[in-house]
Amino acid sequence: MRIGIVGGTGDIGEGLAHRLSHEHEIIIGSREKDKACTMSKSLTDNLAEKGVLDAKCAGATNQEAVDNGDIVILSVNYKHLESTLAGLTGFEDKIVITPVNPISKKDHFYFDPPAEGSAALEIKRLLPESSRIVAAFNNISAQKWKRLSEKLDYSVVVCSDDEDAKKTVMELVNSISELKALDGGPLEMSSVVESLTPLILNIAKYNNMKDVGIKFF
Ligand SMILES: NC(=O)c1ccc[n+]([C@@H]2O[C@H](COP(=O)([O-])OP(=O)(O)OC[C@H]3O[C@@H](n4cnc5c(N)ncnc54)[C@H](OP(=O)(O)O)[C@@H]3O)[C@@H](O)[C@H]2O)c1
Repeated sequence: MRIGIVGGTGDIGEGLAHRLSHEHEIIIGSREKDKACTMSKSLTDNLAEKGVLDAKCAGATNQEAVDNGDIVILSVNYKHLESTLAGLTGFEDKIVITPVNPISKKDHFYFDPPAEGSAALEIKRLLPESSRIVAAFNNISAQKWKRLSEKLDYSVVVCSDDEDAKKTVMELVNSISELKALDGGPLEMSSVVESLTPLILNIAKYNNMKDVGIKFF
C-alpha cells in the first residue's frame, strides 16, 4: 500500500515511516520538499544499517503525499490542522487516518476539543464527504515509535463510520510490531480516544513514567 504522511517530518511521522516502510511505500510529506527528502534519505540509511535494505520511502510535498497515498495520515499538530487542510486538495475517496489530539496545557495536559467534539469529527467536516476518516494511533508516544529495537505492545483503538476503511486500518495496525487493533465504534467515539492522551501524558508526568500506553484485555 502507498501511505502518504502529511507533516511526515515530525515526531509521529518519523516513527510511523520507520515502522511502516518495510512493508509499504511511504511518502513523507512536508511544507518543504527538501526537508522531507533529507528525512527520507536518513530513514533509509538508518534502516539499511539495521539490515533493512528494501525500505520504500520518498520525500514529497504534503500535496504529493495526499495525491500519491492510497491512505493519508494527517500527522500535524491540532493547531495547524485547519490551515494545513485548507491548503490541500484531493482527499476524495481516500482513507484518511487521524492521530490528532486537541490538547492544551496549564500545569497539566487537558483535552481541548473543537465544537464538533473531536479533531476527527472536525476533519470530517473540513474534508470532502467522500473522504473516509479513521481515527487511530492517538495514544502511542512518538518516542516509543522511534525506538525501533523495542516492540510496540499496545492496543490501538480504531474509530470510523466507514466499516471497510476501518477494517483496512485495523489490518494495517495489526501488521506493525505487536500492536493490537480494537474496533472502537463510530467516529463519534474518537472524542473519548483523543481525550485519553492528556490522561496518559499526565500519568507519565506525575508518576515519572515513560511510554505510558493502553492495553485492553
Ligand atoms: N508526538 C506524539 O507523541 C504523539 C502521539 C500520538 C498522537 N500525536 C498526534 O500526532 C500529530 C503529530 O504530532 P507530532 O508530535 O508528530 O507533531 P510535530 O512533530 O510537532 O509536527 C509535525 C509536522 O507538522 C509540520 N508543521 C509544523 N508547523 C506547522 C505549521 N505552522 N503549519 C503546518 N505544518 C506545520 C512540520 O512539518 P514540515 O515543517 O516538514 O512541514 C512538522 O514536522 C499531532 O496532532 C499529535 O496530537 C502525537
